[in-house]
Parts: sequence; C-alpha cells; structure tokens
Amino acid sequence: MIEPSQKFNLANQPIGVMDSGVGGISVLKHIHALLPHEPLLYFADSQHAPYGNKTAVEITQRCFEIADFLIGKGVKALVVACNTATAAAIDALRDQYSGPGFNIPIIGMEPAVKPAAEATRNGIIGVLATVGTLKSAQFAALLESYGRNVEVITQGCIGLVECIERGELNSEETHTLVRQYCAPLLAHGADTIVLGCTHYPFVRPVIEQQVGANVVIIDTGAAVAKQLQKRLLKRDLLTQPLYAHQKGEVSFWTNSKAPTALQVIHELWGATAQISLL
Ligand code: DGL
Repeated sequence: MIEPSQKFNLANQPIGVMDSGVGGISVLKHIHALLPHEPLLYFADSQHAPYGNKTAVEITQRCFEIADFLIGKGVKALVVACNTATAAAIDALRDQYSGPGFNIPIIGMEPAVKPAAEATRNGIIGVLATVGTLKSAQFAALLESYGRNVEVITQGCIGLVECIERGELNSEETHTLVRQYCAPLLAHGADTIVLGCTHYPFVRPVIEQQVGANVVIIDTGAAVAKQLQKRLLKRDLLTQPLYAHQKGEVSFWTNSKAPTALQVIHELWGATAQISLL
C-alpha cells in the first residue's frame, strides 16, 4: 500500500524519453508543450544510431541499457520515442518494467496508419519509415488492422536519419533523399503521408516542399503526448507543481562522439537545456 506522501513524491519524479538519437526530441517537444510542469529526461543513443538497420535483438539490448539508465534516475514513466525501437523491443521492455516490481508505464509509438486511413480522400496513403519498422511484425499487424481498406505505399528512408543526426535539416543530401523517397509515394497518388520515424518531423518543411500543399502529412508526436498524459492521469502520477507557471526541467544525455552533438541537440530543442555527454 503506497502512503499519500510517497505517492506525491512519485508523481513529482521525471518522465524518461528515449530514442536511437535526436529524433525523439520531436516527441519531447509535444510532451513539454502538453505537460509543461513535468521534469523530462531525454536519452539520445546517437552513438548507436541508426537503429533502422539493426536486428531486433541488438535494438532490444540497447533499449534495456537505456531503460536501466533512466530508471536508475528515478523516472515514473518511460516513453520510447522511436517507432523502430517500439517495434523491436516494446514487449520485452513491458515484460521487464511494467509488471510487479518496477510497475512503470511504458508508452511506445507506431506509424499513424489508422489516422491516415481516416484522413485520406482518395484511399492511397504513403508511409515513410525505417526499414526496421517496415519489416517488423508490429507493422504487419498494423496494416492488417487499419490498412485493409486503403492502398498503403511504404518507403524505407535509408540515410535520412543520419542527415538529421548531423543536424542537416536543409542540406543538399537531405533534399536529394527526401525527393528520392517521396517520389514513389507521389507516383502512386498518395494524398496522405505518415511520418513513421520520429526523426522525420525535423525535415517536415523539406517534405512539404517536395509533396506540395495538397498532401496531408501526419506525425504521431502529439498523440503520444496525449496518451502519456492519459496514462499518468489514470495512475495519479501527474506532477503537482508548487505554482501554476512552474516549468519542469528538461535534461539531455547523449553518447554521441560527434563534435557537433551538443549543438545539434540545442538547435533541435530550440531552448536552453542541460545536456550531458556520456
Ligand atoms: N527515430 C527512430 C524511429 O522513430 C529511429 C531511427 C533510426 O535510428 O533508424 O524510428
């Protein structure tokens, strides 16, 4: 039985957010906007990015290491802000940390096929994601559940995560890759495109430029933040701020070896933050 004082303390613990690199910062922004009082801890596993061409076993190992790190820092909930890691490791993470003992809510994310199937006007949707996500059993199940009545064109975007990890949101290479990967979706007539990787919202302007204003682009970040809020509310785990405008502190850890690592995080986050190199 948890005493009310203990419960209060637990609610004021931070939320852990993890990704293969800096992509999950796109989700972190939605979480911070919706839940501004919450202290947030972000782990960028940039040294091991991209996850998209790793095996499920390798990704699961990485996820356990990061989850242990964040749980060691006392997080009350964990957001896997990575479609690829969710597909590969969410079941194993929940088995380990959501049951008795840790009892930590774990929120994952998957490409927004369902909202896209609802939004499409011509019944053709495109999904941009990593190769790992697209060939996962979870993605096959997603198509089976929500993709039956629409045509789904998928496109693995090799190399795009690496550009974003380098902070190249507008480079020639980024434009070339986006053009190359959007072309088959447009050729099939997709009127709705799902950003099935958390890195891609950072190049959304380039994608928009490529596909034009008539194509609807769907990102899952806001839905994940809402789901997190719902789960915390249900368990009475939302932070109790001391005053209304109190902002939760946001701290970053990265194991990147790139000399520009801190600068890239600063630029993508867009505000001052505490960043530690591991
Ligand atoms: N940000 C990731 C995702 O949502 C992973 C990208 C990668 O490391 O390949 O899928």
